[in-house]
Amino acid sequence: MRTFLFLSLSLFVAASARVELHVHLDGAVDSELLADIAALRNLTVPGTSTTPPSASDLDKLVRSKSSFERFDVINDIIGGSVEAAYAVGVWFAERQGRMNVTYSELRYDPLRMSRSSYENSTADMNVIVESLTGGLTNGAKSHGNTVHTILCAMRDQPVENCFQVAELAASLDGVVGIDLAGDEATYNNTAFVPCFKYAKEELHLNTTVHSGELGTLEARRFDIRTAVLDMNVDRIGHGYAAAGDAELMTLLKDHKVHLEVCPGTALAEKEIDAVKEFLHYDLSFGLSEDDPSPYFGGCDFECIEVVASSCQGRAGLKPSPAARAICTARRLIGRGGGGMSDADIEKSYQDAMNAAFA
Ligand SMILES: *[C@@H]1O[C@H](CO)[C@@H](O)[C@H](O)[C@H]1NC(C)=O
Ligand SMILES: *[C@@H]1O[C@H](CO)[C@@H](O)[C@H](O)[C@H]1NC(C)=O
Ligand SMILES: *[C@@H]1O[C@H](CO)[C@@H](O)[C@H](O)[C@H]1NC(C)=O
Ligand SMILES: *[C@@H]1O[C@H](CO)[C@@H](O)[C@H](O)[C@H]1NC(C)=O
Ligand SMILES: *[C@@H]1O[C@H](CO)[C@@H](O)[C@H](O)[C@H]1NC(C)=O
Ligand SMILES: [Zn+2]
Repeated sequence: MRTFLFLSLSLFVAASARVELHVHLDGAVDSELLADIAALRNLTVPGTSTTPPSASDLDKLVRSKSSFERFDVINDIIGGSVEAAYAVGVWFAERQGRMNVTYSELRYDPLRMSRSSYENSTADMNVIVESLTGGLTNGAKSHGNTVHTILCAMRDQPVENCFQVAELAASLDGVVGIDLAGDEATYNNTAFVPCFKYAKEELHLNTTVHSGELGTLEARRFDIRTAVLDMNVDRIGHGYAAAGDAELMTLLKDHKVHLEVCPGTALAEKEIDAVKEFLHYDLSFGLSEDDPSPYFGGCDFECIEVVASSCQGRAGLKPSPAARAICTARRLIGRGGGGMSDADIEKSYQDAMNAAFA
């Protein structure tokens, strides 16, 4: 019994080290962290009853908002403070260490992280990024893991901000690349092509863009094509719209563009079947959490591995109780998922390591 329990618990835990290339800082926080940061700043948060607010008040506040507004509340709590940036860095690096993620690239928008409308504060972006990097470095010491950062330009912001983010990324230690994030369905890649060309050709930065995730199929495929051909990116976040388009799949393969697949959010977006096609074409892709916070689906590493594998275990073994619970909660049993074997999952972490920016 003891032996069986041990074997079954080890199911879905990949033998090789986990590697994470696509995780958003403001999509990873929980209410305890938010309460700790609010206490550190003695922050008054509208909609809560005490200064500083309790974790349960903050939890209620965030849950009362739509998903885009949730990001605003979170950023207004963690943004605009050098001390908060440091503390968040320590917290994140320790979180990754506890989950056995030996190498991570954490992404965030440095502009958004530099201000808080609750405190009416604005901090210097350089100082915020340096402080967060310092927190990550110290937080990583206890587990011996590595965490670098990627700075995000946002699609709803002026293109000048993208250039500013690129210059910042090129000038600071610990930052290993840039990303383009935000509302792909409203803003396609076109306006950002010059910024990403500049980042690659002049600054020699490593680049990734969210593409092929949100919007009409046609527009998402347009973004994947422009990311590869016009922006000359090293990696693409998601890229699911390439599935079903043999020409695009071949383009990704020929240009050796690594895809950052995020099974938890892909399942929610009804895009998880793309993984099977990525496997079929033997594309280079990894598995990441994207937004693992309970406020954005709450699919952490154990969960994404369960989703990626469609609840199939090693031959002769049943899923662990924890894995079974995830399969049931996400209605995965007999319904699909990524269809990856344990060996496929291990290979995906190796692919991710080979596509790492540091
Ligand atoms: C925190 O802010 C509240 C309300 O402004 C104030 O009463 C309290 O003294 C402050 N606490 C600290 C430790 O500064
Ligand atoms: C991390 O790895 C250790 C040692 O292999 C293992 O005991 C532990 O269960 C793992 N933790 C997670 C969250 O996977
Ligand atoms: C921040 O600014 C707003 C509007 O300008 C004001 O209502 C609020 O009282 C200010 N809060 C602090 C903490 O200064
Ligand atoms: C991309 O966005 C631009 C505006 O920046 C627009 O003019 C163009 O039509 C869009 N292209 C596609 C294929 O949707
Ligand atoms: C990072 O960018 C450099 C410069 O463009 C490029 O040579 C290298 O292959 C890139 N690395 C990865 C892992 O994409
Ligand atoms: Zn993302």
